Amino acid sequence: MCFFKKYCYIMNEIDWANLAFGYIPTDFNIRCYYRNGEWSELEETSSTEITLHMAATCLHYGQEAFEGLKAFRGKDGKIRIFRIEENAKRMQASSDGIMMAKLPIEKFTQAVIRAVKLNERFVPPYESGASLYIRPLLIGTSAKVGVNAATEYTFLVFVTPVGAYFKGGFQTTPFCILRQYDRAAPLGTGIYKIGGNYAASLNAGEHAHRLGYSNIFYLDAKEKKYIDECGAANFFGIKNNTYITPKSTSILPSITNKSLMQLAESIGLMVEQRQIPVEELATFEEAGACGTAAVISPIERIDDLDKNISYVFSKDGKPGKICEKLYNKLRAIQYGEEEDVFGWTTIV
Ligand SMILES: Cc1ncc(COP(=O)(O)O)c(C=O)c1O
Repeated sequence: MCFFKKYCYIMNEIDWANLAFGYIPTDFNIRCYYRNGEWSELEETSSTEITLHMAATCLHYGQEAFEGLKAFRGKDGKIRIFRIEENAKRMQASSDGIMMAKLPIEKFTQAVIRAVKLNERFVPPYESGASLYIRPLLIGTSAKVGVNAATEYTFLVFVTPVGAYFKGGFQTTPFCILRQYDRAAPLGTGIYKIGGNYAASLNAGEHAHRLGYSNIFYLDAKEKKYIDECGAANFFGIKNNTYITPKSTSILPSITNKSLMQLAESIGLMVEQRQIPVEELATFEEAGACGTAAVISPIERIDDLDKNISYVFSKDGKPGKICEKLYNKLRAIQYGEEEDVFGWTTIV
């Protein structure tokens, strides 16, 4: 980063309204270490570097898990972090999945809260619609040459402000089905938030972007019969007053999706979590991709490029009414505009 840009950030002259989903340096990150079977106390540092042994297992054998969550500055000026404990639990599941030491839930939440507090000046103002993205990371650091798990781990949490996902208002985008790519195997690691799954998705995502789509729409890897995920987001469809989302052993259990299922029920929708055959797409009245980044990214259409079929959910390009309602409700809880009756937010 050039000196002037860095100086502007240091002077807190961030252009909140035009932030991208990028990395902007903040003041501190929080770390702790697993050695001799124990986790160390949390430490704060302003260093953005990690010193690693060249044979560390995270570099060679993919022993790496991460999380993504957000803190929001509310209408009342308070900072709210959304569902930290769910992310802590998911990181534990990822750790089990690739044989890494599990960080206690309490330590995870303390580290996240401390990282937000220490970087409070980077939590965007309420009016900007931006937020503070929180990135916890766990890596295996022992030197190993044979394929096996590390005995030492580093956990860290850094934060960076990110812009509102929808700059020109809540909008739909198109997705495409390309059967030549799989993100994860049915009994593989798709249910964990680990780097390898994302490396495996880069070519597919890039291909979809080149063709003008917002991302690829994955089908199950074994039979290519059922819906899995939309890029790095879960899928849901709406029909007959029902919120329907895939049940699959190869998708990430999205915390946003879990929350939307509860919200959907609270506004009188039925909720189904089950296998969704790809042809059922033709029957949905609305469809959306959901995740921390956008909450809901409503889907305009899904083009099945192998079969030359287009599943259209929005003829005028506008999001459906139920997508919009769910989106507004979840965001209202995150920004403290609506009472958090579910107890999802932690006020810092
Ligand atoms: C593959 C994948 N699926 C789904 C999601 C959505 O999960 P969450 O709602 O917890 O952000 C993500 C992360 O954002 C993801 O990377």
